[in-house]
Amino acid sequence: MANSPNPPWKTAWVVGASTGIGRDLAIKLAQLGVEVAVSSRSAEKLQELSKEYENIEAFELDVTDSGSVANTHQRIIENFGSIDLAVLNAGVWHPMTVAEFDVERCRQSMDVNHGGITNALQALLPGMLSRNAGHIALVASVAGYRGLPKALAYAPSKAAVISLAEVLKLELETTDIDVSLINPGFVKTPMTSVNEFPMPYIISSDDAAERILKGLKRRKFEIAFPWQLVWSLKFLRILPYSLYFPLARRLTHGS
Ligand SMILES: NC(=O)c1ccc[n+]([C@@H]2O[C@H](COP(=O)([O-])OP(=O)(O)OC[C@H]3O[C@@H](n4cnc5c(N)ncnc54)[C@H](OP(=O)(O)O)[C@@H]3O)[C@@H](O)[C@H]2O)c1
Repeated sequence: MANSPNPPWKTAWVVGASTGIGRDLAIKLAQLGVEVAVSSRSAEKLQELSKEYENIEAFELDVTDSGSVANTHQRIIENFGSIDLAVLNAGVWHPMTVAEFDVERCRQSMDVNHGGITNALQALLPGMLSRNAGHIALVASVAGYRGLPKALAYAPSKAAVISLAEVLKLELETTDIDVSLINPGFVKTPMTSVNEFPMPYIISSDDAAERILKGLKRRKFEIAFPWQLVWSLKFLRILPYSLYFPLARRLTHGS
């Protein structure tokens, strides 16, 4: 159970922890007694967290800078000894229609949402492989299941993360390293506050963090929620294009 004592990790690194889901998850881990390293670009917000919880340490970081990611990873290892759980959660969302097509935003979405994760993997994998231990959680989105309206920059970056997690799971199957793929539906955070379209089954960030924690403790591969949105989109995923496009257009009418 999510609030049971003795979590399976002594240390964790939550990347993208200044606001939203990452922040709430870092707090929940700290409340369970896990030593938590929190990273993002907003040093002040991270410091506030660190002041509030004695077992949270702040490490300012831009995940698109591979050198800084390696350096931050090294500093955390020096402080914590090892990283048992890494939650690679940093992300950006730029709603984009064809009329608003912006290559810079497409590039930034890939650089943060997918590149940020590969930068962290580059730092994390050698140590985890040599210890034959660890748990890596990649945060994607149900928006990565199939192409969706207004997601020209976002959906491809999240589809890449889903694929990356699947490959990583297969590659690490002969080791004791766990891989989790987190696919949230709509969650009320600063990220979704810009959305002007309906967000069915939206849940709070605290609720999302609780569901993630529960799934991570069970070492589940895919942690996806809420089920109503997940199963609708999973159903759309198996349809042929001739059925998918008209149905998707109808279901997202007004988006
Ligand atoms: N909210 C949803 O409905 C929803 C649905 C599906 C998936 N997700 C995914 O869940 C994750 C968390 O999103 P959220 O909703 O909690 O949004 P959020 O509150 O905007 O949090 C995003 C986090 O990513 C960090 N970040 C962004 N760019 C970064 C960079 N270059 N380097 C380091 N950190 C960076 C932000 O911190 P700084 O700005 O301080 O750097 C922040 O801590 C994202 O990957 C998002 O795509 C969210």
